[in-house]
Formats: sequence, structure tokens, C-alpha cells
Amino acid sequence: MIRFDHITKKYPGTTRPALNSIDVEILRGEFVFLVGASGSGKSSCLRLVLKEEKPTSGSIHVLGQDLRSISNRKVPYFRRNMGVVFQDFRLLPNKTVFDNVAFSLQVIGKSRGFIQEAVPDTLKMVGLAEKSQRLPHELSGGEQQRVAIARAIVNKPQILLADEPTGNLDPTTSAEIMSLLASINASGTTVIMATHEAGIVDQMQRRVIELVHGEIVRDERQGGYATASIPTIGPAPTTDTPASEPVPVAYARPAAAPEPSLTHPSAPVPETSVSLHQAAAAAVAAASAATPAPIAAAPVAARATDDPAVDDPAIDAPAVEGVLTTPVPPMTRPVLPAAQNDDPEQLTLAEKLGLRAPGEKPDQTGEQNVGPTR
Ligand SMILES: Nc1ncnc2c1ncn2[C@@H]1O[C@H](COP(=O)(O)OP(=O)(O)O)[C@@H](O)[C@H]1O
Ligand SMILES: [Mg+2]
Repeated sequence: MIRFDHITKKYPGTTRPALNSIDVEILRGEFVFLVGASGSGKSSCLRLVLKEEKPTSGSIHVLGQDLRSISNRKVPYFRRNMGVVFQDFRLLPNKTVFDNVAFSLQVIGKSRGFIQEAVPDTLKMVGLAEKSQRLPHELSGGEQQRVAIARAIVNKPQILLADEPTGNLDPTTSAEIMSLLASINASGTTVIMATHEAGIVDQMQRRVIELVHGEIVRDERQGGYATASIPTIGPAPTTDTPASEPVPVAYARPAAAPEPSLTHPSAPVPETSVSLHQAAAAAVAAASAATPAPIAAAPVAARATDDPAVDDPAIDAPAVEGVLTTPVPPMTRPVLPAAQNDDPEQLTLAEKLGLRAPGEKPDQTGEQNVGPTR
């Protein structure tokens, strides 16, 4: 589904490559953690998958396509197969929850009818059905990230890329976000999540690819953040891990007090928090109880349009109902202040979400940072 062959990425003006001859393959339905210290190359990997950056050498295949063969004009269509979630949520501060999620469908020209069905279905899936008319600043950090996740999956992408999605959240809220991502993965979406939070990685027991200075030093099928096992160096081993793998035994560890700081790579394995255990168990139970309904790529509009008013009656709305039925506990503690209202970045949100190619809009701000956070 995603393959890097000898990928080296060198940014202009730097001496050391951000990624150095990476070989890796990620299969359909996998949940993969990309771990490593700040600057190790995690975000670069995600930006390369999105074709926001070009490799200096090597080839990348995503969904069967060599990225070199995708013209700039076609990049926005290509990106519709992918949802992206960032550490800082990147919601439109003056739009309601509903409108934030609807935004990504409007930009690609989906019909009003499609939007009216797909948005509530997706908000229900992420546990925010009751909050569709709220503004982002009226939500907790975890809820804001749920909105961002809803926006990323409302068009049923095949791949969800998450760059430090829990980086601004407390451990309990992070656990809830992880359970949501696990459920999305269980329904068939390939999930790649960059993080340097050891506790989360240890809890989830999924595939772990570890980067150090732009090189893969470990690729473990069911790893933790720090492991006593001998690291596997080199290309990813072929894995046939199914999307909805049963809960690993690690979840059964006895619960203990939450660990507030889980970010040090060499720290000992943190204790399981009660909430993570419960949230993850609930999510997995819900996911396995539900009929697995793979999130297929939604039909892509035949033409490019940036006009939100354009109606496309040819596109029918496939329901996402039933994919996740996990009850979501209310979250009352805001973690982050609302996004800045005067943030000029919102003008290029469509670019940041990969819905428009950078530079596609005539009134673009010229801003270069359109990808996942670093
Ligand atoms: N646009 C850029 N220009 C120059 N250097 C960059 C750019 N983006 C990332 N880098 C450098 O590439 C390396 C990897 O960065 P990044 O992929 O953001 O790592 P991570 O996400 O793991 O923190 C770092 O040394 C970083 O400074
Ligand atoms: Mg980063």
C-alpha cells in the first residue's frame, strides 16, 4: 500500500539528510507507529507519502502508484485517498464542528445531500453527535482532535496519517484518541501515526518503525517504544498483520496511576493508566462487535472545483454508521485554548489538508508549510 525504496531526503541548505536510504513497506490495514526523537524524520516520512515533499533519491509507491508519475495537477485527487491529522488540530475557529467537518467535503465539491448525511454519521462515529453546532473554542482539546479526525475520515480515506495527534493532550484524553484511531483502523483504514510518546506506543502493541537521524533502526511487528529485544535493522519484514487484530496481552496489564510524562525515549516502560486500559478495551470490543465495514475510498468527483455550492447529484452518500459505537465519556476540561481567530494559516487550510495542491489557488499566501507539523 505504501512502499519506500531507498528513500533519501535532503532539504536544501542542510548537510545531513533528513532521511537516509529508507526502505519500508506498509500493508493495507496496518496500524504503524513511526517513532523517534524530534528531528529523526517522522514528519518528513508523512510529507513524502502525501507528496508534499519530493525525495532527493529513491522511489515511493502509494496505493499502487509511483508518486513520480502523479502530476502536480493530479496531486489533490491523489490526496483524497488520505486523511491527515495534526498535533495542533488545525480547525477553523469561526466554523462550527459540523462546518469544520463539512469543509473538507465542500472543498472537493461534494453535494449538499452527501454532506448532510456524511457529516452527522462521522460525528456520531467520533462521539460528537451532540456537539455539531459548537465552535472549536467551546470544546476540550480531545474533542477538538475528534473533530479533526472526523474531518480527516469523512471522505473515507484509505490511509490516515496522524502526526503527533496526541502531542497536545493529557494522557487520559490521548488514550481516548488512541481508541478512536484503533477503531478507525479496525474498520479497514491503514493508520500511520508519528509520535514520540512512549506510553502510547507501549500500550497499543502495534507495528513500530523507529527512526534515528533519518535511518530505520527498528521495525517490530508488535513493539513498544523502548524494547529489550535486539533491534531489527533494515527494511521492514513482510507482515500479514490483519487490520483488526485482537487486543494484545499488554492491555491486560494491571492498571496503575497515569504517567504524566511519557515522552522520554529511554524512560522505562510507563505503567498502564486506568483510562487507557478501559478506553482501549472498550474501543476494541466495540470494533470487533460491529460488522467490519471497510472504509472504502469515496468516489472522487469527476472534476475539480473549489466552489462549495456546487452540487453533485451523481455522488451518493455511503453511510459510515455502525463503524464505531463506542460510547464517549464527556470531556469537560479544555486542554488547549481555541485556535487563534486571526490565524492567516486558515486561508490555506485546504492546502494543509491536502485538498488543494500548494499553489493551486490564485490567492495563495505563499506559505510553504502546508504539511504535517514538525
Ligand atoms: N523544510 C525543511 N527544511 C530544512 N530542514 C528540514 C525541513 N523539514 C525538516 N527538516 C529537518 O529534517 C530533519 C527531520 O525533520 P522532521 O521530519 O520534521 O523530524 P521529526 O518529525 O521526527 O521531528 C530535521 O533535522 C529537520 O530539522
Ligand atoms: Mg515531526
